[in-house]
Amino acid sequence: MRRLEDRVAIVTGAGRGIGKAVAELMAEEGAKVIVNDLGSNLDGSGLSKQPAEEVVEQIKEKGGEAVSNSDSVSEYNSSKQIIDCALDNYGRLDILVNCAGILRDRMIFNMTEEEWDSVIQVHLKGTFNMVKHSVEQMVLNRYGRIVLCASSSGLGSSGQANYAAAKEGIVGFSRSLASELLEYGINVNSVYPGGATRMTASIPQTTRDLRKAMDSKKKGTDVQEMPSNEEPPEASDPENNAPKMVYLCTEPAGEITGQVFGTFGWNMSLYSPRHVTHSINKVGNWSVQELSSILPISLAKELTNPMPKQEPKEKK
Ligand SMILES: NC(=O)c1ccc[n+]([C@@H]2O[C@H](COP(=O)([O-])OP(=O)(O)OC[C@H]3O[C@@H](n4cnc5c(N)ncnc54)[C@H](O)[C@@H]3O)[C@@H](O)[C@H]2O)c1
Repeated sequence: MRRLEDRVAIVTGAGRGIGKAVAELMAEEGAKVIVNDLGSNLDGSGLSKQPAEEVVEQIKEKGGEAVSNSDSVSEYNSSKQIIDCALDNYGRLDILVNCAGILRDRMIFNMTEEEWDSVIQVHLKGTFNMVKHSVEQMVLNRYGRIVLCASSSGLGSSGQANYAAAKEGIVGFSRSLASELLEYGINVNSVYPGGATRMTASIPQTTRDLRKAMDSKKKGTDVQEMPSNEEPPEASDPENNAPKMVYLCTEPAGEITGQVFGTFGWNMSLYSPRHVTHSINKVGNWSVQELSSILPISLAKELTNPMPKQEPKEKK
């Protein structure tokens, strides 16, 4: 069964890694795919049409339909050309999966303004650009499926403050969009993907430590996020993200919106929404003195840092 027959999809950052796997599976499911990729280096420098063109060739060899595009998601006007590419070639747009991304990891005390700006520009502004132009088309058809790549690095990875800020910004953005767009038949979900790509190869050890610590907290439960050490290397194949991300783009997934899913490895995980876990109450305003007495035995009791203590990855 081809679940995306006649649907038109844009997958950004689809020349490599996770986006490539998503674009290929979309095409297998019958979608006509705009394979977008700027063809940049991991830090955002450089340009090449080749990665996107090669993926299109591979899709066509398997009988699928696809067109390549190498415009950047990060500029408002160039991102519009990616949507225009879908409209010019296929006359409509149904699905957006945003996978374009770069890394400029640095401890905050060494981070330059340019390193901050470039990561926010590609991930957060790029996500806004792609969603804004796509939604203008989707509301006309009262149908749309949007999947945005966030990252579990946003949960507190050292040395990635720019990336974490952008990625959790995407989560807040997608929750807000979910409320705005459900009545127009458009769902919007974020994913924390993963897999052995060139991006992971550069992920700091601190992030791996965070994930290990988070996993060990869940020992004894049935919750498992990352491929465990016993699983073979195939569990880290970026292709493992694709079926989960593609499912969120199918028709029956329309009511699933505003969620964050972990898609790496052989699991699919649902992350909790932000909600109050504990509170203290009184009639009237608290004094600092009262809070000093009560917090250590209430809200701050047994509070664990979500991130284990880490050695700085760079020295000032
Ligand atoms: N690999 C992981 O474990 C992991 C974990 C968490 C989140 N992510 C996120 O998943 C997404 C895909 O990551 P990946 O590991 O496949 O990375 P990747 O580096 O293999 O692929 C990203 C692609 O995006 C393209 N790109 C960069 N800037 C662009 C721009 N301005 N316009 C269009 N294309 C651009 C690059 O050329 C590259 O081909 C990213 O958003 C990343 O932040 C990945």
